[in-house]
Amino acid sequence: MKKITIAEMAKYNGQTVKLGAWIANKRSSGKIAFLQLRDGSGFVQGVVVKAEVGDELFATAKALTQETSVYVTGEVKEDTRSAFGYELAVTDVEVIHEAKDFPITPKEHGTEFLMDNRHLWLRSRRQHAIMKIRNEIIRATYEFFNDNGFVKVDPPILTGSSPEGTSELFATKYFDEDAYLSQSGQLYMEAAAMALGKVFSFGPTFRAEKSKTRRHLIEFWMIEPEMAFIEHAESLEVQEQYVSHIVQAVLTNCKLELERLERDVSKLEKIKAPFPRVSYDDAIKWLNDNGFDDIKWGEDFGAPHETALAESYDMPIFITHYPIGIKPFYMQPHPERDDVVLCADMIAPEGYGEIIGGSERIHDYELMKQRIKEHNLDEEAYAWYLDLSKYGAVPHSGFGLGLERTVAWISGVEHIRESIPFPRLLNRLYP
Ligand code: 4AD
Ligand code: MG
Repeated sequence: MKKITIAEMAKYNGQTVKLGAWIANKRSSGKIAFLQLRDGSGFVQGVVVKAEVGDELFATAKALTQETSVYVTGEVKEDTRSAFGYELAVTDVEVIHEAKDFPITPKEHGTEFLMDNRHLWLRSRRQHAIMKIRNEIIRATYEFFNDNGFVKVDPPILTGSSPEGTSELFATKYFDEDAYLSQSGQLYMEAAAMALGKVFSFGPTFRAEKSKTRRHLIEFWMIEPEMAFIEHAESLEVQEQYVSHIVQAVLTNCKLELERLERDVSKLEKIKAPFPRVSYDDAIKWLNDNGFDDIKWGEDFGAPHETALAESYDMPIFITHYPIGIKPFYMQPHPERDDVVLCADMIAPEGYGEIIGGSERIHDYELMKQRIKEHNLDEEAYAWYLDLSKYGAVPHSGFGLGLERTVAWISGVEHIRESIPFPRLLNRLYP
């Protein structure tokens, strides 16, 4: 008999198959037991009828506890009442391992308890749905960049220099030298773009930020494209097409998951390029005109400002041309103004905040050297980076999309901690 997964069941309609599964939940009466089976690939209901399987097997099925692992045999049947569309008419159950007192029951649990049991919480329907959506976003990311002529490049994790400022670095020893865990692969991706044209990376990044918000992780994953001969405005077009692509991919390929999360998909269906562009100047003016007197020109936005700005649109928006003083050293100045740079943040709708930060990069050697000095960075550590503007420098642009913020937004989950398998938070390194 064929051993298959739940995801493959549609291909075996009417046939008898064997599944390896766990008991997610169970309901039973004196005559019939309904087993909620999960195998990682999906969830399906197994139906055990006493009159058909006999007393002994029925007693075994009735006694199954939550998270007990089993092999079940049965006939695949169409079931129009379930969203999945199939059920299993069980003819045999073989217990592999009996689980006793699984801590996460179908009742409500507190957040700290669930986080302490993250390794088990991942098995729940809700977490399963979020992880599947995360996987679809990663798949669609590779698809988008591969289809558009980008080469995947892997920047190092252990580094000697830092793109986003020095205050939030995790320091470690590299034998006798000081090293830092990467907070962005950008500078290396710029070098790669000079070799390969259009490149993208996907990797973990680390920020020792003392922020305890629903948007901040200490360790998060970033997608960082970098493009030679691409200027600021052209980069924004790539960004909006990329984000539209991943939203549409999730809508197409994660219908069951979005339903399980009770996501309002009408909000996602609207997400199609182009996205509105709002200048930083106009954003500050709009905020000041709309009751936010706590922010003035030259200051960075807080979460409430971003939420308010995005609320008037049902799309992600670009906020462009930030003041030079609140952005990193490498951003290209505006050609007609010395107080703002050619950059943009993409702000997600529904209060999820900044999901992309990006800019055109400086490609003038003297200017780059000056900016490194102004930012009190160690020129020696950046010598290799300065070489990029020394040998055939070209206009180039790039950006970084935070995977977990994007997963949280598209899944509609309130807190970023549910968008990564094992979150690293300000006070959490366990499990
Ligand atoms: O805006 P950031 O800091 O930009 C960079 O690191 C650039 N070097 C990227 C580039 O141009 N190649 O970070 C980029 C994105 C943010 O927009 C946000 O989505 C995410 O990374 N991010 C975080 N996500 C979770 N937790 C944190 N602490 C994050 N910090 C940034
Ligand atoms: Mg940013």
